[in-house]
Amino acid sequence: ESDELHQRIEAVRQSMGDSLLLLGHHYQQDEVIQHCDLRGDSYKLSELAASSETCRTIVFCGVHFMAETADILANRPEKLESRGGDRVTVILPDMAAGCSMADMAAIAQVEDAWADMGEIIDTSRVIPVTYINSAASLKAFCGRHGGIVCTSSNAASVMDWAFERGDRVFFFPDQHLGRNTALGMGIGTEQMPVWDPYALELGGNTEQALRDSRVILWKGHCSVHQMFRPEHVEGFRKNHPGIKILVHPECPREVNDIADVSGSTGKIIDTVRNSPPGTKWAIGTELHLVNRLKAEHPEQEIHFLSPVVCMCATMYRIDLAHLCWCLENLRDGCVVNQILVDDETTLHSLVALQRMLKVK
Ligand code: 13P
Ligand code: SF4
Repeated sequence: ESDELHQRIEAVRQSMGDSLLLLGHHYQQDEVIQHCDLRGDSYKLSELAASSETCRTIVFCGVHFMAETADILANRPEKLESRGGDRVTVILPDMAAGCSMADMAAIAQVEDAWADMGEIIDTSRVIPVTYINSAASLKAFCGRHGGIVCTSSNAASVMDWAFERGDRVFFFPDQHLGRNTALGMGIGTEQMPVWDPYALELGGNTEQALRDSRVILWKGHCSVHQMFRPEHVEGFRKNHPGIKILVHPECPREVNDIADVSGSTGKIIDTVRNSPPGTKWAIGTELHLVNRLKAEHPEQEIHFLSPVVCMCATMYRIDLAHLCWCLENLRDGCVVNQILVDDETTLHSLVALQRMLKVK
């Protein structure tokens, strides 16, 4: 059955030529990502969508916020004008492919937090920074309030950008990326406040922490990366002398701090590719990527850092059947599962995304 689906997908790709671009995130399963024209981490995928020239449709094998970002960047005003007003259609093969972390911050909660925070500190000196793993409305919020988007590959440079323009950073939705980045730069403290959108009242300690801290975090996390624990690192170091630990910065601080290398999925791949044969790794990121690295690098010894399965269930929703279904519909003139960001949100989120694309 999957052989037939592979053939049907390839038939549509052949028939549509350059007008179709399939983008894939590194966490996609092998049988899906093999059909993608280009793959990347979130930063690279944003650059690819922003620079696409010939395509009229992007089928995004990733999650919802990635497809939204592609729609915003591929259809920004100057691009639309250069195509005589023709939109690039962005399709997400399964609309249920979301991101549990992005869902931990809704725009109404962020706006409420901003207003409540304004009762305690001067928010005109606070720069909001949203991790790209967020809804377009949060990116638009950052665009409207002098803020910026970051990815796991440029978070420290984005923090520098922010502190050139303000006194504090309000970082959402991932507390771990925010904490790991701020601590790594020496600008965070143990007491960095974590804004809890479900705690209706701010206790006195939180108020004081807000006044004292240069970085305010949001109580969000990745359900996949929170599974990696310091005891997993200790276990590998004990049982595999010489092993190096490579993690994604969405891992909790206790893991990130004791890892040998921490970085985006793109950096994880480059780190393994550039290592000599015989290098031993325990890698703390999504299972499909780690398994692919294992298969591609038999000359190295690669382990998955956790004893339990940590996979991104929403990325996994993109399968051959959904991909084939949306491609064949497209070929037959029927657009299904289009991701379309409204003009107002596009305008403001673009401001924050374009700032991000200037910060490597
Ligand atoms: P990268 O930008 O590092 O690919 O991360 C995306 C993501 O969702 C990690 O969980
Ligand atoms: Fe979101 Fe985590 Fe999946 Fe990345 S791995 S898309 S942060 S749920």
